[in-house]
Parts: sequence; C-alpha cells; structure tokens
Amino acid sequence: MEVNVDVNGARPAGAALLFWLYFLAGLLVAAAILRIAAWDPAADALWLRVAAVAFLGLKYRSLPAALELYTVFWLGDLLGGGAVRFLPLVAAVPLYAGWAPPRRMRAAAIAAAAAGSTLLIAAAAPVAGWGAWAVVAATALTLALAALNLTAGPGTSPRAVDVVVNSASGNTMHLTQQFVDGVQSTGARVTVHRFHYYRDFRAELTGDALAVAFPIYGFKPPWPMLAWLLRGLPRGGGRPAYVLYCCAGGPENAHLLLWLILRCKGWRPVGRSWGVYPLNVATFRWGPRALWRFLDRLVPLPTDAAAVRAHGAAFGRGEPSGYPFLIWPLPLFIGGILIDNKWVDTPLYRNYAWRRRCNGCGICVAFCPAQRLYLKEGRPRARGTCTLCLGCINLCPRRAMELRFWSEYGRPYPPRWPKLVVRRRAPDGRAVWPGGS
Ligand SMILES: Cc1cc2nc3c(=O)[nH]c(=O)nc-3n(C[C@H](O)[C@H](O)[C@H](O)COP(=O)(O)O)c2cc1C
Ligand code: SF4
Ligand code: SF4
Repeated sequence: MEVNVDVNGARPAGAALLFWLYFLAGLLVAAAILRIAAWDPAADALWLRVAAVAFLGLKYRSLPAALELYTVFWLGDLLGGGAVRFLPLVAAVPLYAGWAPPRRMRAAAIAAAAAGSTLLIAAAAPVAGWGAWAVVAATALTLALAALNLTAGPGTSPRAVDVVVNSASGNTMHLTQQFVDGVQSTGARVTVHRFHYYRDFRAELTGDALAVAFPIYGFKPPWPMLAWLLRGLPRGGGRPAYVLYCCAGGPENAHLLLWLILRCKGWRPVGRSWGVYPLNVATFRWGPRALWRFLDRLVPLPTDAAAVRAHGAAFGRGEPSGYPFLIWPLPLFIGGILIDNKWVDTPLYRNYAWRRRCNGCGICVAFCPAQRLYLKEGRPRARGTCTLCLGCINLCPRRAMELRFWSEYGRPYPPRWPKLVVRRRAPDGRAVWPGGS
C-alpha cells in the first residue's frame, strides 16, 4: 500500500512514572468499589469515575478509551438514579481491564462484570424508572455481546485482509494506515479499497477477513458509506470483520450500528478501534488559527496510533483486540440519523458557485461523494444529501465554491494529510488534489 506517512508510534517515555500512576489509579478504583459496596448512593460519583477513567485510560494509553469510559459513566449518572447509576462503572471497569488476550482473561472479565452487575442490581432493587431500566438493559446487552465475542474471536490468523476505507480529509486513512501496518507486521497480505462513491464502488472482498474504516459524521458513518454498507457490502460467510473509525472526540457508538450491519450480512465483527483526530469542519474553527494549531497538538496522535497498530497486529495474529463493543450510548446514532438526512441537509447545506470565478470545469461534480452536485448550463448545482466533506471547496482550482454557513470562502480547511485524500480525475483526465489541481 502506497502511503508514506510515518507517525512515530513509540511508547511514551517515563514508563516507570506511568507504572506508578497506573498503580495509584488502581488503588483509587479499589477504593471506589469499596465505597460502592458501602451503598452510599448519595455520594458524589465524580471522583470514582475520574479514577476509573485514569486507570483504564492508562492501561490502554489511549485518549479514545478514556473519553469513551467517561461518557459511559456519565450516562449512568444521567439516566440511572440511585445505585443503578454505578452500573456502567461496575460492569465497564472489569470488562475493559480484562479485554485482552488470552481468552480466559476475557472470560474472567465478563464473569466479574456480570457478578458485580448482578450484586448491584440486587442491592438496588426494586429498579425504578425507565432511565434506570435502560441502563440495566444496556448493561445486560453489553455483557451478552462480550460473551458472543469471546467465543467468536478471529481464532486463526487471517492470511489476506481486505480493508475498505472512507476518508474525506485523510484522518481515517491515517488511522487505517496504523492498523494496516500492524496487520502486515504479522505477515498477512492487506488490500486497501478506497471508498468514495457508493454507486460506483466495487470491491472484490476475496480475503479471509475484513476491516471497515470510516469517519464519524453526525454520530454515524457518512451517508454514502452507510448506503454502501447496506446495499453493496457482500455477505461475509462467517469471516471475521474489524471496525475502525475516527472522529473529533465524540465517543459515539457508531460501532454498534456497524456491528448490527456486519452481523446481518453474515460477517463476524470481532473488535473495534477508534481514534481522536483534529476536526475537519472549517466553520467550527472560529477564533485565532494559533489557538486551533495548539488544540490540534493536544491530540495524542502518536500514542493513539501505536495503540491501533497493536490492535492490528493482534488481529493479524488471530487474537482478540481493540475495545469491547458497548451498548450504553445507543441513542446517539439514532439522533445522528434524525439530524443528518436529506430533508434536513437540502435546506441547511447550500452550495454556491461564484459565477465570475467558476469556469464550469466539473471537478467538484466529479468529486462529490454524495453525488449531490450536477452541472446545469455550465454551472454546478446541488440537490439532496451533503456529507459536508468539504471536497468541492478544497478541490476547486478557482476557489469558486462555497458551502454557505459551513465553510469560509477563500479559507478552505486544509486537509491534514493531503496525500491520503482520495484522488479523483477531472473530466479532462487530470488528477486533482485537495487545495489545487
Ligand atoms: C459533517 C461532519 C459531521 C461530523 N460529526 C462528528 C460527530 O458527530 N462527532 C465527532 O466526534 N466528530 C464529527 N465530525 C468530525 C470528523 O469525524 C473528524 O474530523 C474526522 O477526523 C474526519 O475524518 P476524515 O479526515 O477521514 O474525513 C464530523 C465531521 C463532519 C465533516
Ligand atoms: S470545481 Fe470550481 S470552477 Fe470547477 S465547476 Fe466546480 S465550482 Fe466551478
Ligand atoms: S457538496 Fe461538497 S461538501 Fe457536500 S458532499 Fe459534495 S463535495 Fe462534499
């Protein structure tokens, strides 16, 4: 695979310090569990959650893991009420802590999570309110999913892995590259299929395993990718599949949607990883550029990349890897479908081609992954869903395209990894890159 980005994935220095931090956080978690056992539901749960997040964030050395757990615990607090609000904490901590090979470790983690949850529910009985019942149901389903994945791991090392990747500004491609490096380090052959249009995308998925990678757009995969997954993804015949996604920090459970689709299509989803990357929506970058550059630097890309590379290597060895599939933040992707659909998008995202600049070259039309743009009387027009990928703006050689309210004319968001962005051919056959031709 021809990708030349090298993110130094070395483990951070100061391993001894990390060990002691890890140890301290472990003590805090033990104290937290003792405190829960003392049944003091009125206690402020904040420090318990912070301790657990520190413990597991350090175990995984990954920002995504820490963010995800924090949200899960917070949701327990929001919906649960009484002792039930501790349920995600009691179930997720052992599940995450033991989510590693060997398999017996996972079995022990699931057993510990199930035992802790049962004890907590028994002590909290009767469970009252729909929110508390939702937390109980989500916990039970998460544990059932974990048990399913225990018996359905990749098992043997795949010899050939197909990777289907959708990436607008290159972040997901970068994340995928880490995973691919990990898989390749085990000797497996990897074929990367760059997804762009859903109508003309054809991939021969002949490998004995699959990885699907996408960015989160509105709590879910971009619509074109979703359309292909539903209509175009061939049946898996029981082959293992891995889910990879990246976003700006929202720990949505788009992986659950993927889990459902892959299962329905006969694949065996066996693991997932995700990464936090700089946001690719220009409009959200209000304020001084220096501030955004500073915020971008805070994202711990090298450590997260190293974690995903390790997941890829474990997948290549046929071992369980990545993070457990969770049910807790379930409603988010449903919200994404409600707020990001063609009925909302059509009036909200409006393309304007500046008449005096646009020469009708059609590059934007050729690129648009939503097939929203078309030429009429020599000028681009738009209808239907927009994935807000900003490709039409970034690619326009004449800086003529504007997406009103969502991008700043003349200041397109520069893709962070330009060489990882899909290359399309303009109607005259030239290859085009974001930021110019
Ligand atoms: C239309 C749109 C919607 C997005 N929605 C979310 C979101 O719901 N949660 C989130 O954390 N990031 C969201 N993001 C940020 C992207 O997921 C993030 O920038 C990602 O790294 C883009 O990857 P790519 O470069 O592979 O396209 C959104 C970005 C776009 C353009
Ligand atoms: S890429 Fe720019 S110049 Fe070409 S048709 Fe689109 S808006 Fe016009
Ligand atoms: S209209 Fe522009 S921003 Fe919207 S999907 Fe098409 S290329 Fe992307």
